[in-house]
Amino acid sequence: MKILICGAGYVGLANALMLSSKHQVSIYEIDKKRVSDISANDYSILDERNLEDLPIVNSNISVTDKNDSVNYDYVIIALPTDSTENGRLDVSNIIDFIGNHKKTQPNSIYIVKSTLPIGGSKKILDSVGEFIYAPEFLREGTAVHDAFYPSRIIIGGTNELALKASELLSKCVLNQPEIILTNYREAECIKLFSNTYLAMRIAFFNELDTFMMNENLDSRTIIHGMGLDDRIGLFYNNPSFGFGGYCLPKDTEEVINSLNTKLISQINNSNSYRIENIINHILKCGYKKIGVYKLSSKTGSKGIRNSSTIILIDALKKHGIEIYVYDPENQTINDWIRVESTKKLFEITDIVIANRIDDSIKKYKDKIFTRDIFSCN
Ligand SMILES: NC(=O)c1ccc[n+]([C@@H]2O[C@H](COP(=O)([O-])OP(=O)(O)OC[C@H]3O[C@@H](n4cnc5c(N)ncnc54)[C@H](O)[C@@H]3O)[C@@H](O)[C@H]2O)c1
Repeated sequence: MKILICGAGYVGLANALMLSSKHQVSIYEIDKKRVSDISANDYSILDERNLEDLPIVNSNISVTDKNDSVNYDYVIIALPTDSTENGRLDVSNIIDFIGNHKKTQPNSIYIVKSTLPIGGSKKILDSVGEFIYAPEFLREGTAVHDAFYPSRIIIGGTNELALKASELLSKCVLNQPEIILTNYREAECIKLFSNTYLAMRIAFFNELDTFMMNENLDSRTIIHGMGLDDRIGLFYNNPSFGFGGYCLPKDTEEVINSLNTKLISQINNSNSYRIENIINHILKCGYKKIGVYKLSSKTGSKGIRNSSTIILIDALKKHGIEIYVYDPENQTINDWIRVESTKKLFEITDIVIANRIDDSIKKYKDKIFTRDIFSCN
């Protein structure tokens, strides 16, 4: 099959690598640096290790920043769907892309992997006609592995295109995920409510941890004691400075702004409240020089979109605290003072804040402020 993928971010590139195991994949991407990296088989934008374990076929992948008029069997859209001012996800770039391509490639099957807002499918259908919505569930940091081993395949759409899309998406994966054929609106809800649940769970354990931190109680014991109940479980329960990343804040915002909710409507507020509490806690300690160990929300990912650590740093700076940052993977942003080694970071600062701790700084544990209790994401 000939497949075109539009957008080479986490979703587009991870799916391109997965589909390359059996198909010819062309990628259309407007970022010239990404185009030249991918042409050189450099997939480091995905910050993922052990790709050599996977049946990726580099010779099946091509990438360009120019539109072409090849006839593709499938066109997969992995464009950003950012929040607009009214807190709803924007699908206009998807409509533009499909609209333009359908003029020259009317027979391709169009599959949208970008996250759609509630009612987004209808907007696309009304504007440009038939397509399939197959929401993506991969995680940054393990995007390619997740593409090869998806937790489930959801196909929104009501006709024979859905079966063809399901065949394409299930034939290259290395597991046997459940495939659910559903209507568009249900597919939208499965995606958005999944991310909303994850955000809520993080917010829940963070609120619990805020209380324990302020009362000087041991969060580890409490969370462990709760999680022994199988209905709660000993997973996805590790406190942090707050949830961040590209998807959880914006997808939660989408649900809050499109539906009448009571519990969900408070999730993003709870996250802001968490960060405020962490800021106040640090300020009370009276530190003048604070080090920061890495900016991303997760170990193993360099993604810093909506990073709670960055929100924290900006707030601390406003209180006149000197900030020193160690993060070799994120060198290009902001004007913070950069430190080249963890040794120096710990030498020149009063305390180092770390959203997540890894082996390289465990030896400094007495000089670290973290809420990472279980050493996992
Ligand atoms: N990041 C995740 O973990 C994740 C997981 C599941 C779903 N999603 C959803 O998938 C979609 C894409 O997310 P992502 O994280 O891959 O985004 P991303 O920002 O990492 O990548 C998007 C890519 O599209 C390119 N692009 C933008 N406009 C373009 C255009 N007009 N033509 C061609 N290329 C263009 C950008 O340069 C970028 O490389 C979003 O809707 C997101 O919500 C993301």
